[in-house]
Amino acid sequence: MNIQNIYTLAIESSCDDTSAAVLCNDKVLSNVVARQTIHEEYGGVVPELASRAHQQNIVPVVDVALKKAGITKNQLNCIAFTQGPGLMGSLLVGGSFAKSMSMALDIPLIAVNHMKAHILAHFIDEEGFDKPTFPFLALTISGGHTQIVKVNSFFDLEIIGETTDDAVGEAFDKSAKILGLPYPGGPLVDKFAQEGNPKAFPFTKPKVDGLNFSFSGLKTQILYFIQKNVAENPNFIEENKADICASIQHTIINILMDKLKLAVAETGINQIAIGGGVSANSGIRTTLKEAEKKYGWKSYIPKFEYTTDNAAMIGIVGYHNFLEQNFSDADVVSKARIEF
Ligand code: KG4
Ligand code: ZN
Repeated sequence: MNIQNIYTLAIESSCDDTSAAVLCNDKVLSNVVARQTIHEEYGGVVPELASRAHQQNIVPVVDVALKKAGITKNQLNCIAFTQGPGLMGSLLVGGSFAKSMSMALDIPLIAVNHMKAHILAHFIDEEGFDKPTFPFLALTISGGHTQIVKVNSFFDLEIIGETTDDAVGEAFDKSAKILGLPYPGGPLVDKFAQEGNPKAFPFTKPKVDGLNFSFSGLKTQILYFIQKNVAENPNFIEENKADICASIQHTIINILMDKLKLAVAETGINQIAIGGGVSANSGIRTTLKEAEKKYGWKSYIPKFEYTTDNAAMIGIVGYHNFLEQNFSDADVVSKARIEF
């Protein structure tokens, strides 16, 4: 065995994407994601359907990941998998598969926290992408979470702010639903926003103490705003779609930026790394780049394929745990909610 080259197989199945990746040290050799489209007709992820689809996808996805990486399963040094947080039925499929494979191959098993992985995805070795240096602040924005995390090292991450209700991705998706857009609506709001005036409809920002967030009030505000205007003009949404989307996105970005500014002031750290599905948002990306010039921040925006749920981010955490010999026992349990 060439110990210079550590081959990690990573499995991610926390929600509705089945993903497997193979890494050689901190480089990604393959990162395969099978998206589940079945949920679109229900307007949200149906947990039971998700776990059944994971069961169908897991074997072919792992097989393709190994083939694309050009290695055989016998070359693997360890298997990393998402322990949580996520949907229990979905987590169990990936977890059981990872356990069986690590037992069959007699190689270490490494349980990974999905939220930490969204942050540590920045340490994947990728041409053209800088890695942050410790300590830095991470803004994790996804369909399930909104957190500001102080990252002191690979293994010392501290949540300093989080949402008290909806996640920012939910704010995007629920707003999109009110506008009659299909699930998940976040990318569509982003698309329409690019053609609209962000100041067309001023929505008020919630008042939340400290570094925490709240998005449920904004959702209600948008709902009432749309109901009132559609009552006066049934074509209101169609006629103003771009401006509505731009105004919603502008408000959400302002909420995030206010808290980031506060976090920078409180910690004295001005390196900001974003992660999670919502970091694909073009408005957030532009605003963070502008903040580099405006406030002297350094921002880190991951490669697009590592922002949404993917196994490569689980693999990079697995690799760093392998180096420290931090292994999990075979009786490690999947957890829908998990301590950070
Ligand atoms: O991290 P992710 O793939 O899954 C988890 O929630 O863990 O994030 C999915 C979320 C969804 O809410 C989706 O609407 C949102 O990310 N999203 C976006 C964009 N792309 C994905 N929201 C706004 N703008 C986007 N371009
Ligand atoms: Zn995620």
